[in-house]
Amino acid sequence: MVKHLAIIMDGNGRWAKSRGLPRGAGHKAGIKAVHEVLRGCEEHRIPHLTLFAFSSENWRRPKSEVSFLMDLFVSTLQKELDELVEKGIRLRFIGDVGAFEADLQHRIQQAEFKTSGNSGLFLNIAVNYGGRWDIAQAAARLARDVAEGKVDPEAIDADKFGEYVCLADVPEPDLLIRTGGEFRISNFLNWQLAYTELYFTSCLWPDFNQEEFKKAVDWYNGRQRRFGKTPEQIAVASQKINHA
Ligand code: FPP
Repeated sequence: MVKHLAIIMDGNGRWAKSRGLPRGAGHKAGIKAVHEVLRGCEEHRIPHLTLFAFSSENWRRPKSEVSFLMDLFVSTLQKELDELVEKGIRLRFIGDVGAFEADLQHRIQQAEFKTSGNSGLFLNIAVNYGGRWDIAQAAARLARDVAEGKVDPEAIDADKFGEYVCLADVPEPDLLIRTGGEFRISNFLNWQLAYTELYFTSCLWPDFNQEEFKKAVDWYNGRQRRFGKTPEQIAVASQKINHA
């Protein structure tokens, strides 16, 4: 069962280009695909969803595209917040949000606050996020706790370190979907994806729909997750569960 789904939403630009439209039209169409995914999570009872909306590297895009994306985030939050509240969705942003304009930062805080009491889908949106940034910020916070005597350096292991990265309080992603035909994780959740099943599809993000969603989940359900164990150990463990 997928408890946490993470998605790299790629292919908006190519989708627009193939229709002779500006790239922004692809990003706008991408919002519709986000709605498809929200519905898919409900249908497949997936409690945690993390979307990569804007990477630390996306600042390198043409200025006009960056500001289009920022406006799109602001207007989407403004337009859809009430619906998210109504649907019981808890919204959280991960990434270095301090780099955004004050208005967007304010809307982000407001959206997190307004949905903080919800207990439906936990929706995490990664903005100005990078996996290496995440690991570096975790190291900095951990170092601070060591300096303040709250953590014994001898007690630092992967579990301890993992308490400091983003999303430490939710299960690690079981499944990552990347649309758009590229086979890489592009600095997304580098720490958290250690044991995640990776699903790549050539489908462009704006075309992602229920059918594509089901294909990915069905593929995941056919995978055997071994977490370093042998297939035989896994078979014995699942027999025990079935006989319990
Ligand atoms: C990658 O496609 C997509 C992005 C950088 C932006 C993703 C944002 C959205 C889908 C909007 C979602 C909004 C919210 C509020 C969650 P690309 O432009 O790299 O496509 P290309 O590889 O075809 O050029």
